[in-house]
Amino acid sequence: MRAIVAGIPANAKPKISDFRVRARAGFRLYPREKTSMTMTISVALERSPYLVHVEPGILDRCGELVRKTTATTRCALVTDSNVGPLYAERARTSLESAGFVVDVITVPAGESSKSMDEAARVCDVMIEAGHDRSSVLVALGGGVVGDLAGFVAAIYYRGIPYVQIPTTIVAQVDSSVGGKTGVNAPGGKNLLGAFHQPGLVLADPETLGSLPRREFHEGFAEIIKHAAIRDPEMLDHFDDLPALVARNVAIKAAIVAVDEFETKGLRALLNFGHTIGHGIEAAAGYGRYLHGEAISLGLAAACRLSVKNAGLAPDDALRIEQALAACELPLRLPDDIPTSDILAAMRKDKKFHSGQIRFVLLRALGDAFVTRDLHEDDLVAEIEGLRA
Ligand SMILES: NC(=O)c1ccc[n+]([C@@H]2O[C@H](COP(=O)([O-])OP(=O)(O)OC[C@H]3O[C@@H](n4cnc5c(N)ncnc54)[C@H](O)[C@@H]3O)[C@@H](O)[C@H]2O)c1
Ligand SMILES: [Zn+2]
Repeated sequence: MRAIVAGIPANAKPKISDFRVRARAGFRLYPREKTSMTMTISVALERSPYLVHVEPGILDRCGELVRKTTATTRCALVTDSNVGPLYAERARTSLESAGFVVDVITVPAGESSKSMDEAARVCDVMIEAGHDRSSVLVALGGGVVGDLAGFVAAIYYRGIPYVQIPTTIVAQVDSSVGGKTGVNAPGGKNLLGAFHQPGLVLADPETLGSLPRREFHEGFAEIIKHAAIRDPEMLDHFDDLPALVARNVAIKAAIVAVDEFETKGLRALLNFGHTIGHGIEAAAGYGRYLHGEAISLGLAAACRLSVKNAGLAPDDALRIEQALAACELPLRLPDDIPTSDILAAMRKDKKFHSGQIRFVLLRALGDAFVTRDLHEDDLVAEIEGLRA
């Protein structure tokens, strides 16, 4: 096992010979030998440090690894209706062989499960089954399951430990690390929640092999975002998925370690591409674009704004756009999504503080900063530019 402390690991790229090529978009999902490779990133938080292990096939070892974090026997395994049939039995078998008594709780797949109602339902099932504060919760699924189950763990008996086993790219490189948990309110996304860090994160790149093609590519928007704000060299290493996941976790971990509660401005850099991207996502009507697809448009606009306002080299903006295109992500905004709707949606955004826009720009690839100097007109011009 190799240890990578938060930061960009110099040795994150395993030897190509460790992998066999898998026929999904040329990405390697498995090592040749099941034994060989764990990449471990430590999330160095003062109060609650934890480890993220990235390893193809680690799902089958989750029991022994969760066991190292707790002596308890009761375990609630929360998953969704897509992920459960694919992976819950493997997780359960491993957990049971490590001595856990496991209750599998399945929520309907999709964003609508991130609700107070669903959180209450999961809590009810756990109360009914006799779970108390000594139970451990395991979240097996994408960001929806992770955010919902993490929130349940945050409030159940005023907080129980939980483990994330993320199964989408977004969840592996972003949402499972950092302790932001929560659900949506009728008035807006992610309005109800709590910071509650997991005790352990187990990312199995093998599980990404069952993602539908569109959901698979969507996740690369966040990876390209990380590359743009922190690690442009990563753009040359897209073919090696386990290493790529580890590298992205290291970026997220490093940011979270410095700015756990989003009070120091660093975590705000993760919003790169998201101001306009969220506006487009909402204006298009939720469901038309996957989140990452809308963020792709937001990233393209933010790069062009960076060229005009922060000195980003045009070739570097182009490099980001080419990476997005290579991942089958959109770069052109259709005419039937009016700019006025996008602006109206953006005005509801938390980042539009009393009319003042907090916007993340790049001076260069890897060098991001927050500015308050942009005006709505600047954004309008760039949104229009996406139609060209
Ligand atoms: N907490 C954070 O810091 C944070 C960060 C980013 C996003 N998020 C949240 O994450 C959510 C989005 O997460 P997501 O993109 O993972 O969506 P998701 O959890 O809805 O998963 C996408 C779809 O893929 C299915 N799926 C998941 N894993 C699969 C697999 N391995 N094989 C086949 N199908 C699989 C799911 O059932 C779902 O239908 C949003 O609610 C967003 O707000 C949270
Ligand atoms: Zn995002």
